Amino acid sequence: MTIASLLAIGAIAFAVVRAQGSAPVPTGVPIAGNYTGALRPQIHFSPPEHFMNDPNGMFIDAEGTYHLYYQYNPTDIVAGNQHWGHATSKDLYHWENQQIAIFPDTPEEGIFSGSAVVDVNNTSGFFPNQTNGVVAIYTLNTPQEETQEIAYSTDGGYTFTKYSGNPVISINSTQFRDPKVIWHAPTSKWVMVVSYAQEFTIGIFTSSNLKQWTHASNFTNQGLLGLQYECPNMVTIPMNGTNELMYVLMISINPGAPQGGSITQYFPGSFNGTHFTAVDNAARIADFGKDNYAGQFFYGTPDGQPPIFIAWASNWEYSQVVPTGPLENWRSAMSLPRVNTLANITRTGYDLVSLPYDLSTVYDTQIAKNSSLGNGTLLLDYSTVASGAVYFEANVTGIPTINTTGTLNFTFTSSTTGESLRGGFFFGGDTPFWLDRGKIGGFDNPFFTDKFSTNNIISNGKFQLQGVIDRSIFEVFLDGGIRSAIATFFPEGPLDQLAISAGDLNPGVKVSVNVWGLKSAWAAEANSNGTVTGNSTTAGNSTASRRGIYGKLE
Ligand SMILES: *[C@@H]1O[C@H](CO)[C@@H](O)[C@H](O)[C@H]1NC(C)=O
Ligand SMILES: *[C@@H]1O[C@H](CO)[C@@H](O)[C@H](O)[C@H]1NC(C)=O
Ligand SMILES: *[C@@H]1O[C@H](CO)[C@@H](O)[C@H](O)[C@H]1NC(C)=O
Ligand SMILES: *[C@@H]1O[C@H](CO)[C@@H](O)[C@H](O)[C@H]1NC(C)=O
Ligand SMILES: *[C@@H]1O[C@H](CO)[C@@H](O)[C@H](O)[C@H]1NC(C)=O
Ligand SMILES: *[C@@H]1O[C@H](CO)[C@@H](O)[C@H](O)[C@H]1NC(C)=O
Ligand SMILES: *[C@@H]1O[C@H](CO)[C@@H](O)[C@H](O)[C@H]1NC(C)=O
Ligand SMILES: *[C@@H]1O[C@H](CO)[C@@H](O)[C@H](O)[C@H]1NC(C)=O
Ligand SMILES: *[C@@H]1O[C@H](CO)[C@@H](O)[C@H](O)[C@H]1NC(C)=O
Ligand SMILES: *[C@@H]1O[C@H](CO)[C@@H](O)[C@H](O)[C@H]1NC(C)=O
Ligand SMILES: *[C@@H]1O[C@H](CO)[C@@H](O)[C@H](O)[C@H]1NC(C)=O
Ligand SMILES: *[C@@H]1O[C@H](CO)[C@@H](O)[C@H](O)[C@H]1NC(C)=O
Repeated sequence: MTIASLLAIGAIAFAVVRAQGSAPVPTGVPIAGNYTGALRPQIHFSPPEHFMNDPNGMFIDAEGTYHLYYQYNPTDIVAGNQHWGHATSKDLYHWENQQIAIFPDTPEEGIFSGSAVVDVNNTSGFFPNQTNGVVAIYTLNTPQEETQEIAYSTDGGYTFTKYSGNPVISINSTQFRDPKVIWHAPTSKWVMVVSYAQEFTIGIFTSSNLKQWTHASNFTNQGLLGLQYECPNMVTIPMNGTNELMYVLMISINPGAPQGGSITQYFPGSFNGTHFTAVDNAARIADFGKDNYAGQFFYGTPDGQPPIFIAWASNWEYSQVVPTGPLENWRSAMSLPRVNTLANITRTGYDLVSLPYDLSTVYDTQIAKNSSLGNGTLLLDYSTVASGAVYFEANVTGIPTINTTGTLNFTFTSSTTGESLRGGFFFGGDTPFWLDRGKIGGFDNPFFTDKFSTNNIISNGKFQLQGVIDRSIFEVFLDGGIRSAIATFFPEGPLDQLAISAGDLNPGVKVSVNVWGLKSAWAAEANSNGTVTGNSTTAGNSTASRRGIYGKLE
């Protein structure tokens, strides 16, 4: 990247940079986005323009602002020319786009995935006068090598300076990437997990200053291998019902997931400062769909509280060819922010329980309620919900364990095209929950799997179904998040009708249903011609004078 020119337009100074290809990449100001299109998610994060993949650098700062960086090609709608895009949020739904945070220095370079930490104690020496210094740890990709590098930010994570002593880890490999760093207080060390991608190995490195790293151990050939290990995370998660905090190592694999392409597996276990030991050698997968990859946990959420996770809601099998709005020129969304605990529910001993982070800031009005659906159908026209985004839940109680019968289905339909997204539950089956995106017409591809299912989890005669539909992305949570799935879908007409129906229930089984319309988080930010401009205050401002998402000075 060479800075070709420095322009001053009005009060906003920005440099136009010519990167790979010839399209300019703006610095110093966010890229503006049009979030109105029919396929644009309204409560999920998606980039203002162009192509996004893995979430990166996720951390929460001392003021309670969540920072989300992401793999970003600012010049095309396929992967390449990797930068770190950036957005911030107070509630994980209303995101404010920020200027691009980290840029490659030459057309051959890519700033690949990585993480960020707040160096409160100035262990790095970059921050003699502050407790809010941010260090990003990422992979620099070149045709010759993948090395781990660091960059530091004295303005709270908005702009970064690359460390002059880079790289901080170099092993002469082209397949060594995705460092995720946490602080391990018992040993007073930073701990990095990083992937030797094609050797099916997660390396654990430790450091006291983020600059010098020591290899501590390897976690090798565990669980599903696919053809590469990527994007490891190590995190502490509370075990439900106990006071225990367990370590969980999460590893994304791509290609070669059981459903094809990309997916994420997790290993519950323990960590003693140098070695991660899994409770067993089983692979556990938290998602029964195929749009949940490269997820990351926020650094800095309080110890002992359920950590918050965001994944890239796509799959490399089709991420670069799915439809995008003709005028909008963007591709890919993140998953909902999810709160995670572990629980011992199924026979496997450890289940990652994942639920949407508090949706209350995007709730609009309740649009349907039926506390005694019985063998009936709730029909709902939600075309008046401007966002097209809806949350629904159904509770089923009194399910017998013997001679169980009955079904509960939901169908979202487009009144203009007749396309539908459907799913449902067979209470009597061993593999009772199914999801079908095959009746949506806007995208057909041999890898875009239509149908998904998962096994029986009915316990105590109860079943709970929760779902969020958001124009082109659907997330479903079963029995309080014990099972979940993300499914992207690309309709030709907007889905605007919902039917929830139950039938053939055993006597005494009760079904209650609630449906809420959701408010668009992006419309709240758009200017009068519908454009979301993001944070246009100049770089380097203190967070104190930064303009917040609601236009107020924070
Ligand atoms: C935003 O996109 C919509 C739908 O594609 C289009 O109708 C509208 O004109 C666009 N708005 C602007 C400001 O470009
Ligand atoms: C930190 O503060 C000291 C004393 O005020 C000053 O000399 C020094 O330049 C400051 N360092 C940085 C990096 O701001
Ligand atoms: C790095 O690896 C390449 C490819 O394996 C090899 O040709 C080269 O000699 C290595 N360089 C060093 C400095 O070890
Ligand atoms: C910062 O220092 C305090 C006091 O020594 C220590 O308890 C804490 O773990 C340190 N945290 C980080 C992130 O360095
Ligand atoms: C860790 O794994 C990497 C990748 O396979 C290998 O190069 C390295 O030698 C291993 N280190 C140790 C100590 O086993
Ligand atoms: C968590 O534990 C509590 C009490 O032990 C129990 O009521 C609840 O159902 C459990 N939740 C999950 C998801 O296991
Ligand atoms: C951590 O665990 C490894 C593997 O079990 C062991 O070799 C090492 O001694 C342990 N370290 C500490 C500090 O207990
Ligand atoms: C999970 O619960 C079962 C049944 O109560 C028990 O036998 C098993 O030991 C538990 N597993 C763990 C990991 O706590
Ligand atoms: C279950 O169904 C079988 C066969 O119809 C019947 O014989 C049995 O009594 C039923 N059991 C219960 C508990 O309803
Ligand atoms: C739910 O869908 C399944 C699968 O298509 C079907 O067999 C069942 O009859 C449906 N139930 C209701 C109540 O519509
Ligand atoms: C639902 O229908 C079944 C027969 O298919 C019946 O036994 C049951 O009582 C009905 N439930 C309700 C709540 O009407
Ligand atoms: C379902 O159950 C949950 C948890 O008990 C409750 O918070 C929610 O309001 C119930 N929803 C419906 C539709 O009954």
